[in-house]
Amino acid sequence: MAKSWSPTSWRSFPIKQQPLWPDAADLDRALKQIAGYPPLVFAGEARSLQAGLAQVAAGNAFLLQAGDCAESFDDFSADSIREKLRVILQMAIVLTYSMGVPVMKVGRLAGQFAKPRSADYEKVGDDQIPVFRGHIVNADGPTAAARLPTPERLVQAYHQSAATLNLVRAFTKGGFAALDRVHAWNQEFVASSPAGRRYEQLAQEIDRALHFMRATGIDNEANSNLNQVDVWTSHEALLLSYEEALTRQDSTTGSWYDCSAHMLWIGERTRELDGAHVEFLRGVGNPIGCKVGPTMTGEELISLCEAVNPSRIPGRLTLITRMGVDNIEDHLRPLLRAVKDSGHPVVWACDPMHGNTYTSVGGHKTRDFESIVGEIEGFVRAHHVEGTWPGGIHIELTGENVTECIGGADKLIDSDLDSRYETVCDPRLNGRQSLELAFRTAEMIRSTEAS
Ligand code: PEP
Ligand code: CO
Repeated sequence: MAKSWSPTSWRSFPIKQQPLWPDAADLDRALKQIAGYPPLVFAGEARSLQAGLAQVAAGNAFLLQAGDCAESFDDFSADSIREKLRVILQMAIVLTYSMGVPVMKVGRLAGQFAKPRSADYEKVGDDQIPVFRGHIVNADGPTAAARLPTPERLVQAYHQSAATLNLVRAFTKGGFAALDRVHAWNQEFVASSPAGRRYEQLAQEIDRALHFMRATGIDNEANSNLNQVDVWTSHEALLLSYEEALTRQDSTTGSWYDCSAHMLWIGERTRELDGAHVEFLRGVGNPIGCKVGPTMTGEELISLCEAVNPSRIPGRLTLITRMGVDNIEDHLRPLLRAVKDSGHPVVWACDPMHGNTYTSVGGHKTRDFESIVGEIEGFVRAHHVEGTWPGGIHIELTGENVTECIGGADKLIDSDLDSRYETVCDPRLNGRQSLELAFRTAEMIRSTEAS
């Protein structure tokens, strides 16, 4: 790998998963426009997140990374952003309260648009049409015209990200996320589930603790830890020309940051060591992630750590494993040993979604809640045996009452999937399933750590 790096050096490396834009001049115009726009995040924020992730790497904090598989241009409203945020805040409270460690909250939001696909074309009737690659590239309708890559969408994705991030900042800094509002995050359809009722009890305990603090003379209102939270943004850095357009040199340090989000990750399909995605992300100062699927070897993983984090900065690299419930323990343990022996300080996070996707009898892409729980269980057990910290979870969810994953306390089954199947890409946990998962995860980690 070449030693020198620039925001454009990825262009001379082999690259996968890029759309075939029909008109180079159109693409260029859109990218120039974005390159002239303000950054979405600030380098100092990315460094704060990295400092928090360093605490996760050290075993003193936990990472909750969650949001849509793919954000949609159509489902874009204050309501959907607020419901997603509520569920993330609820899950974080459950994890913090039960595990007794800070939880770093990172959304798959405000930029999670581009999707890697396993094939370039899809058969619709007798025709072959280009696949849907996320609303930042094309439309999801099943026609060749809808699937035409349109550079104007890059600009729209930028604006939607900016508006989403603006609302997230308003909610998290403007009082919505204050701890004395824990009850208000329990939206109705979640509150009526068993996990929702458990959550209500926990919220009452928090209330009592806040009252107690106030009674002892502590000024809760003046304490920003009780009134504001940090919710960071992240997405898969897939469309490198878009990422390049938002990569800026930080005036305080001189380093380059990809200012499209606080954290960026490399997907399972684009993690070749000699490929463009590793080349691009090795040079930006943001904390980065990399998906780690079942074909990853210990040797390859160490080379990856060396490539993207040669200075071994804690919090810089999060390894997001996505093995599938049947593979997780056997595949993960040798990787944990290899990374531990190498001395690389990484965050280990479990994505229990992408290795457990299948097509239901009715033709819906789905996931079973019990496989998702099962993969987290295997992840936690493997870490326990190897003496490493199961640092976090990476989840696809929505706050809404969708029916995309089967199982959970409502025991959703295949035939329920039709009623509210709304995702534009992979199936997401709904609000009730997400909260239940937070309780189950916290219990698993607590009981394993205690044993
Ligand atoms: C994703 O996170 O939506 C995704 C495509 O995952 P992976 O790269 O692990 O397949
Ligand atoms: Co997905």
